[in-house]
Amino acid sequence: MTRAISLHHVSKSYGRDRRAVDRFTLSIEPGEFVVLLGPSGCGKSTVLRMIAGLEEISEGELLLDGEFANHIPPRERGMAMVFQNFALYPSMTNRANIGFPLKLENPREDNSARIEATARMLGIEHVLDRYPAQLSGGERQRVAMGRAISRRPSVFLMDEPLSNLDAKLRNHLRAEIALLTKELGVTTVYVTHDQAEAMSLGDRVAVMRGGVLQQVSPPREVYALPENVFVAAFIGTPRINLLQAVVHAPLEGRMSIDLGRQRLALPEPLSPDHQLLRIQQGRRIIVGLRSEAVRIAPPSHARPGEVALSGIVEHVEYQGHEALVHLNTGSRPAVVPDLESAQPRPMSRRRRATAGRTAGSTQGALGVLDRLKGRAGARISGPVVTLDEPAPDPTAVRTPDRPSVISGDLVVRTGPDMRLRTGGQVPLLVDLAHLYVFDHYGRRICPLPQDVPGLDG
Ligand SMILES: Nc1ncnc2c1ncn2[C@@H]1O[C@H](COP(=O)(O)OP(=O)(O)O)[C@@H](O)[C@H]1O
Ligand SMILES: [Mg+2]
Repeated sequence: MTRAISLHHVSKSYGRDRRAVDRFTLSIEPGEFVVLLGPSGCGKSTVLRMIAGLEEISEGELLLDGEFANHIPPRERGMAMVFQNFALYPSMTNRANIGFPLKLENPREDNSARIEATARMLGIEHVLDRYPAQLSGGERQRVAMGRAISRRPSVFLMDEPLSNLDAKLRNHLRAEIALLTKELGVTTVYVTHDQAEAMSLGDRVAVMRGGVLQQVSPPREVYALPENVFVAAFIGTPRINLLQAVVHAPLEGRMSIDLGRQRLALPEPLSPDHQLLRIQQGRRIIVGLRSEAVRIAPPSHARPGEVALSGIVEHVEYQGHEALVHLNTGSRPAVVPDLESAQPRPMSRRRRATAGRTAGSTQGALGVLDRLKGRAGARISGPVVTLDEPAPDPTAVRTPDRPSVISGDLVVRTGPDMRLRTGGQVPLLVDLAHLYVFDHYGRRICPLPQDVPGLDG
């Protein structure tokens, strides 16, 4: 018996003007594995605790198998929760720890068969008669999972269950959790701030920022089709290169994207989504290039769809199997706030009311946009990108006292053996099939969904 979980416009307010979670809407299928992903403080645990019933829902509805469930006490929800700080009873054996919830439910029943089956599933049969203090961190976390599993819950809620473990063990247990939940077929909601963990575990990944859901998609899609620049920047290592740019679309001649010191000339005939860029003429946009979209090679090696750029080597990070080359191409990186940790924002009603009046045309425009998006139900929490300086003027002359060049704006992968001299210039080829363009508000304009290879829809 596994359950469907639906949240409709669920909000959580602490105090009068702090919203930890803002109109969160998500429907989870029975048996599905959904990961809540976002920086620390963005409201993930709060969502999980509202599903568990440990936190009251301030506004909105929680449905379990289609039934209104806001008021159902945690005990009656049939859910099991695993936390980061798994607390086992130190004076009980691991067997007793795993059996504890069963004993609470039914004190007289003999649960040994069920405890042993659970332990077998987790590979901890041999430690059942020891005490928690006699186990390694990984074994202890397995006992904690065993305690959650033994009751055969209809939902698993896991809140950063692997965060306290070392990297190797974390990867190992991650794979086990994926297998185990599949085997049990239990609806699982898993919270993490680690994008790699999210990508490897989830049927779908729900990305949050500042209490607001940004996107819910299968892992391949959040990576390939991030709906906004925050999602693009949060997912993927090394982080996507985000550059401030301007579309240059003359009436005659080729369209190009101006990166400050250099331009990306768009090949003719224009692809459908490059055509869409025409309306951005003269506006500030953000170009996103993942490291796999750029390679170090001379223009003579260009394949169809690749255009040339060049960069100056600032720094090479040797990584064993590859190297990350930090280059300077003379463009300005776009800044995405809240990537590391988010503060809850003032309540959105107030924000919407005042945003139009705050100083600066950007903020004003955003207030309008927020209102529109609020209506459409696809909200981005606050400005996604800070374009704090005026767009680069392509005709501007570089002067020594105000350098237009900010170092290290592009990170590219190479083989570990490529010899590169710091300060040396290298030729680059950019694969335009992997070019992302976001508008000034951080919403993706390019690519259009159908243009992404290997994705349906
Ligand atoms: N009991 C509480 N009282 C006041 N603020 C809280 C409380 N619990 C959480 N918050 C705030 O709500 C926001 C979201 O917290 P949380 O859901 O724990 O984030 P995450 O799990 O994504 O790190 C944070 O800014 C946090 O400080
Ligand atoms: Mg948390």
